Amino acid sequence: MKILICYFSGTGNTKKVVDKYEKTLTSLGYEVDTYKIEENNFNFNLDEYEMIGIGYPVHAFNAPSIVLNFARTLPKQSGKRTFIINTSGEPLKLNNISSIKLTKILNKSGYNVTNEYHYVMPYNIIFRHTDNMAYKMWETAKSVIPIDCKEILRGEVSHLESVFMGRFLAWIFRIEHWGGRFNGKHYKVKDNCIHCNKCVNICPTHNIKVENGKFHFGKNCIMCMRCSFLCPKSAIKIGLFEKWKVNGAYNFNNPNNYEDEVHKNYCKKSYIKYFENCNAKINNIQIENVEEEKDTEEIVKV
Ligand SMILES: Cc1cc2nc3c(=O)[nH]c(=O)nc-3n(C[C@H](O)[C@H](O)[C@H](O)COP(=O)(O)O)c2cc1C
Repeated sequence: MKILICYFSGTGNTKKVVDKYEKTLTSLGYEVDTYKIEENNFNFNLDEYEMIGIGYPVHAFNAPSIVLNFARTLPKQSGKRTFIINTSGEPLKLNNISSIKLTKILNKSGYNVTNEYHYVMPYNIIFRHTDNMAYKMWETAKSVIPIDCKEILRGEVSHLESVFMGRFLAWIFRIEHWGGRFNGKHYKVKDNCIHCNKCVNICPTHNIKVENGKFHFGKNCIMCMRCSFLCPKSAIKIGLFEKWKVNGAYNFNNPNNYEDEVHKNYCKKSYIKYFENCNAKINNIQIENVEEEKDTEEIVKV
């Protein structure tokens, strides 16, 4: 079976998760292709794939506009199995509404969204998680992804819990799509810029231009934070959200670094619940595996 995973990732978290899906599904004997939505060249033929996955980071409790626009351009299908993968910085249940619009668009074009999985990954806006937390999030996602992949392959259906008034709330929060474009025009470059032009080259919507050494930010910003997050000098001011800027890639391999743990109480209960639920899922599978092994041993004996 061939599987295509189309994804958008602003600062790498969703890509990391999609890569793990690709690796896991491949090791289970499936042929997996991935497609970066921002490439916008549709170099795939959907008829070749029996299943498709769509991955994205949650932006203001929604899928980013680039993902919704991509979904709108997908060719009509009749019931193609589709799964959704999303990442977000906090484990709030409200994030479950992020796929409502995307699912509606996909359903309208004949896609059958059967599974959705949500992984908590470090924030790329608001505040910087500690390396310890980034490590914990990634280790958890890495252990849960193979379980979720197997669930998809067994043909089981799995949706996230619904949220009261979710449709309405998701509609309200989609103001971010407009707000991002507005805010993006107010990005500024500080004097410590070294003119490496990394931001210009990595912007997924080609929204940053340089003319006579001056930076111009257009009206197509999708607030993915890639430019400011990856700027080697943290030289980009992100308009109204400057106080929430997070700069520099995370180190996912540094469990002993608790530096700057000033936000340790933020959504504390939700994070604890998220890790507990994931661990319960991992432990259940381990118990099932042991029982299966015992059954097989008994059959062999008989
Ligand atoms: C504009 C914006 C809005 C965001 N909104 C949310 C949100 O509503 N809920 C949440 O938990 N995380 C939110 N986040 C955090 C990201 O979803 C999270 O860090 C994600 O893993 C980033 O993935 P990426 O590296 O693939 O872009 C937001 C990030 C950005 C840039």
